[in-house]
Amino acid sequence: MPERLGTTVTKHIMDAQRAHPHATGDFSNLMNELVVAAKVIHRAVSKAGLSDILGKTGLTNVQGEEVQKLDEFANITIIHKMDHTGLLCAMASEEMDQIFEIPDKHPQGGKYALAFDPLDGSSNIDANVSIGTIFSIHRKVTSGLKGKTDDFLQPGSRQVAAGYIIYGSSTMMVYTSGAGVHGFTLDPSIGEFLLSHPNIRIPARGKIYSVNEGNYRKWDDRTRAVADYFKTEDKATGRPYSARYIGSLVADFHRNLLYGGVFMYPADVCNPHGKLRLLYEAAPLAFICKEAGGDAISGEEDILDIQPKELHQRTPLFIGSRDDVAVCRGILKGEAAPVSR
Ligand code: AHG
Ligand code: MN
Ligand code: MN
Repeated sequence: MPERLGTTVTKHIMDAQRAHPHATGDFSNLMNELVVAAKVIHRAVSKAGLSDILGKTGLTNVQGEEVQKLDEFANITIIHKMDHTGLLCAMASEEMDQIFEIPDKHPQGGKYALAFDPLDGSSNIDANVSIGTIFSIHRKVTSGLKGKTDDFLQPGSRQVAAGYIIYGSSTMMVYTSGAGVHGFTLDPSIGEFLLSHPNIRIPARGKIYSVNEGNYRKWDDRTRAVADYFKTEDKATGRPYSARYIGSLVADFHRNLLYGGVFMYPADVCNPHGKLRLLYEAAPLAFICKEAGGDAISGEEDILDIQPKELHQRTPLFIGSRDDVAVCRGILKGEAAPVSR
């Protein structure tokens, strides 16, 4: 008797569409095309060591960062998968200085804007450490058929959907469209993402803090006070927390989403606005985290409230369990750290 298959991500997306009687199916089709792109990138990542796709391209991106071959491959894969669907007005990527307008030869007038980090954690590719793809979907808000930069410069609270794929010991896709956070694990034997983590909820408080302590001397006093808080022994508040830092945002975030805890990439003297990008790293993960019961701040602001001014703008990021982010928020505002759990 063939085993009963679990729910595929495609079916999950179609079921979600049925909950919206006026849905045209465009969003579902968009998500399903992204799923195919994820499978193609998974295949390249899983064989990266065997082909000459490892290593650097010798190019640098708009961030001034060395572009790895796999970054470029992932970027082109998403562009080519999505550009002819007629579902998008434009795309924005970490690897492209300006937005990518849909070429005239393809159907025009797509109603969504897709921003993405095609490969997050690139510095870890050659060491076989988990890496990921992050995506954020907004509705087109400008007039005319062609997408414009302003279609991307929307607060994260207006995202239609957000998600990531993590290429790790298994490949998982985690996404939200505002109705819970759902995780799907790729079964390579049938090439399908199967529902493995329905309705993910992040614990209200964790026991893990994730930050690159190598930057400690470059932080301001309040930021240092945050890191000091989580490493200080105090039984009443379950401290010290364990330090876990992979150096791939998607991997660090995914672990904290499931186990609880807080990830931080603060501003420092070298990165006065932080290192991580708002549109395709902080905002999509903030949408997911909030939808799972967590929180995400830049320090002063909620990530989802920030009005972006430019495509590749950076933001400090404190994201994870609700109570742990609340502690960060208080200390960063100059309040005394809490003494009870
Ligand atoms: P990307 O590979 O897309 O440029 O992102 C790298 C980011 C993020 O994945 C990670 O959290 C952070 O860089 C690590 O930065 P440090 O090496 O400075 O800690
Ligand atoms: Mn990244
Ligand atoms: Mn990247």
